[in-house]
Amino acid sequence: MEQINKIARMQERAIQIHKKGLTIGLVPTMGYLHDGHLSLMREARRETDCVVVSIFVNPIQFGPSEDFAKYPRDIERDIGLAEQSGVDIIFNPAAKDMYPLRFRTIVDVPGLNNILCSANRPGHFQGVATVVCKLFNIVRPDFAYFGQKDAQQAVIIKRMAEDLNMGIRIRVLPIVREKDGLAMSSRNIYLSQQERRAALCLYNALKLAEKLALAGEKETRFITNQVEALIKSEPLAKLEYAAICNPVDLSYMETIEGEALLALAVKIGSTRLIDNTILKTI
Ligand code: PAF
Repeated sequence: MEQINKIARMQERAIQIHKKGLTIGLVPTMGYLHDGHLSLMREARRETDCVVVSIFVNPIQFGPSEDFAKYPRDIERDIGLAEQSGVDIIFNPAAKDMYPLRFRTIVDVPGLNNILCSANRPGHFQGVATVVCKLFNIVRPDFAYFGQKDAQQAVIIKRMAEDLNMGIRIRVLPIVREKDGLAMSSRNIYLSQQERRAALCLYNALKLAEKLALAGEKETRFITNQVEALIKSEPLAKLEYAAICNPVDLSYMETIEGEALLALAVKIGSTRLIDNTILKTI
């Protein structure tokens, strides 16, 4: 496996790979890899000739009071896991190269970034869209892989790629969960034992909502009220939002027709967790 940290070198390699007629699959990550990331790498391995994993904790997607400084990092462990997963190239640029002093451009996808997580994380999705756009320009992937856990991020990136005619196929793969249902996240490491148990309220709330929808409940307000009550009954949990919206454009849904996205953001102690599911009514 090759390790590249210079942007120009990565661009040069991308040109060489394409010249050979090979395809590139990019898995953008912030490192501290878990099984969710590994499932994206496996799919990239299956579908493309050259798998590139980027590891970059993107400073501009963190708010001033967020966890940028303490975000878990373990590059040696990540390199080992990527190698075992058959990754060809690890791209691990430095922040000063990604954002030199003269850097100014921000990618904005309005309409999709003023709902759900945006209320509590202003500027977050501009930071995500900007870094993903830069990574796309550097790595020049044919396919790029994202997890459904970050549902809003996935919708925004799909929109950006289509609007800007990037010609990159965006794959969004299912949420990978721990045995008891907790969605895998690099931030789970922050949870104490007691908080880890409390964090299950997210999964339990999603299951409750799925059950209500499958029993024929279509009123989104009724379902979110039940979800909110379940989460509020967990003393360590503080609900940020429980929202049901259209999975394609994130617009508000009053009643569920076909499929709907139920998205949750909940603070467990000081750790902010997100999770979601697709609700289907009969
Ligand atoms: O999902 C993530 O880990 C990040 O938001 C991403 C897409 C790597 C951009 O920094």
